[in-house]
Amino acid sequence: MYFDLGRPPAYSTAKGAMFSGDSIELLAKLPDNSISLVMTSPPFALLRKKEYGNQDQHEYVDWLTEFAKLVFKKLKPDGSFVLDLGGAYQKGAPTRSLYNFRVLIKFCDEVGFYLAEEFYWHNPSKLPSPIEWVNKRKIRAKDSVNTVWWFSKTEWPKSDVTQVLTEYSDRMKKLLKAPDEFYSPAKRPSGHDISTSFGKDNGEAIPSNLLQIPNSESNGAYLSGCKTLGIKGHPARFPAKLPEFFIKMLTDPGDLVVDIFGGSNTTGSVAEALDRRWLSFDLDINYVAASVLRFMGSNHESDIKQVYEDILNKKTINLDSLNFSEKTLTKKTRKTKILSDAASVL
Ligand SMILES: C[S@@+](CC[C@H](N)C(=O)[O-])C[C@H]1O[C@@H](n2cnc3c(N)ncnc32)[C@H](O)[C@@H]1O
Repeated sequence: MYFDLGRPPAYSTAKGAMFSGDSIELLAKLPDNSISLVMTSPPFALLRKKEYGNQDQHEYVDWLTEFAKLVFKKLKPDGSFVLDLGGAYQKGAPTRSLYNFRVLIKFCDEVGFYLAEEFYWHNPSKLPSPIEWVNKRKIRAKDSVNTVWWFSKTEWPKSDVTQVLTEYSDRMKKLLKAPDEFYSPAKRPSGHDISTSFGKDNGEAIPSNLLQIPNSESNGAYLSGCKTLGIKGHPARFPAKLPEFFIKMLTDPGDLVVDIFGGSNTTGSVAEALDRRWLSFDLDINYVAASVLRFMGSNHESDIKQVYEDILNKKTINLDSLNFSEKTLTKKTRKTKILSDAASVL
């Protein structure tokens, strides 16, 4: 794929590239109708840190809508836009902000998206918050569910739920062993005919729209690389299993997946592993440079530092030209190819 985004990427592989910059500018350079999936989680700091009131929440929604309009143009007709949004409270009161619902309604009413399905990501490892309402006054439950809106450009986005089948629940496993003990064939109040077909073992179960994913994965190479560099990991990473679910269900190998708020590039690294083409953008060069660690495995300390600094110094790293196969690479064997004029490596 040869897309000229008007600047060289920070780093690239044969399948994708990470760019430092404003995704409004970068997205605009992509051809219309070219993306199969935009999977992202926008910054919420705006709402959290400053405890923005209603007025500011409208501003946030308007800000995000500008990205959504471009995403709509760049998606293929069967493309999807999956947006992970954390909840927020109103300023100084134990009542919830409606901003994530406003985003949903505005994107459908004004931008032209369809709501293909609403998902909820339950993170059981989330710490109780906000402290004032949950821990101190004990008047609210802890907020551990994000809304994940699956928008589509048309009513028929590409989708195959058989790519994300899950293990049967314990109850279902029991039913499969002895179906007659569980249900006597009869019509349920819902009109469903609970016949013996429910006792058929299909190997795995259709997943529900409640995704249970603890955000406690070790992030191996990424976090150990950050330690080597003496830097902190990105503070708002989502777990790899979240983009993995949607990439598997909504795209095929070779399709283009884009994360417009890439952060530590969780989405790009999952897309790479699943053999999709990918692009990832982030405004902050420090996050961009650290995100290369996801692609470097357990390399020698000096290689990690060199690549990280090269990216901070705005040199483009072609990861496929680096030899990371040996664990202890020396400066001599390291074949870093700096592409200073790689404006269109994709
Ligand atoms: C919630 S984080 C994304 C984290 C990511 N999902 C991960 O797993 O690492 C949002 C990111 O959006 C970036 N960002 C904010 N405004 C942006 C813009 N206009 N263009 C590109 N990135 C932006 C921030 O720097 C931040 O890293």
